[in-house]
Amino acid sequence: MARLIAIMSMSLDGFVADPEDGVTEVFGWQFTSGDVEVNTGGADAMTLRMSAPSAAHYLGLTSELGAVLTGRRTFDKAEGWGGNHAWGPAFVLTHHVPDGWPRAGSAVHFVTDGLDSAVQQAKDAAGEKAVGVHGADTIQQLLNAGLLDELAIDVAAVLLGSGVRLFDQLDAAPVLGDPSVVQGVGVTHLRYPVSRAEHPSPGTR
Ligand SMILES: NC(=O)c1ccc[n+]([C@@H]2O[C@H](COP(=O)([O-])OP(=O)(O)OC[C@H]3O[C@@H](n4cnc5c(N)ncnc54)[C@H](OP(=O)(O)O)[C@@H]3O)[C@@H](O)[C@H]2O)c1
Repeated sequence: MARLIAIMSMSLDGFVADPEDGVTEVFGWQFTSGDVEVNTGGADAMTLRMSAPSAAHYLGLTSELGAVLTGRRTFDKAEGWGGNHAWGPAFVLTHHVPDGWPRAGSAVHFVTDGLDSAVQQAKDAAGEKAVGVHGADTIQQLLNAGLLDELAIDVAAVLLGSGVRLFDQLDAAPVLGDPSVVQGVGVTHLRYPVSRAEHPSPGTR
């Protein structure tokens, strides 16, 4: 069964976007940390330039993926990835399918019947590969439901002070295993196995 891997770039103080939903700061390592060129693929393909350790980490991780699961806000901010996400078929959690979608020739699908359905559809599409998950709200729902297998967090060497937090809506304290660590330039790549949460986290709702 396909594994679910949350993949997010995060500031040292825990933000995945600035107060205007901007991600330039947390993704800076993908564009300016070195000379190794990496083409993202997908309909909105970009050439990234990063350090050799970050490039190896990025290529290794993305080669594991066969589908994507995100929330609607990530889809909106990414302008639908041009209709085809680099990581494979994309499943977007939403209460309302956006106007003009789904589109012919696009592998972006909208899921309006809840988290479990989205997970099942994404896993089915990924087959033997893993599902990459984007979106702070979506990732926290998966953590709260005990459905996430791994947190792959790129900790960017920036402090934002405010913005979209990644871990502010946890109902429980997920148990994390020891991380693998890759040191880049201006970023540290951490991959934590996640165990099912078994006890309430202190001070949460
Ligand atoms: N740093 C990074 O690596 C990275 C990566 C991706 C995104 N981002 C940033 O993160 C932000 C987006 O994350 P986010 O946490 O705000 O939102 P998100 O998880 O992308 O999307 C949340 C939205 O998805 C829909 N949704 C979620 N769960 C649902 C459910 N169970 N059933 C039906 N609909 C559901 C709802 O939208 P509706 O009610 O409108 O349908 C909800 O408001 C943006 O600022 C983006 O730029 C950063």
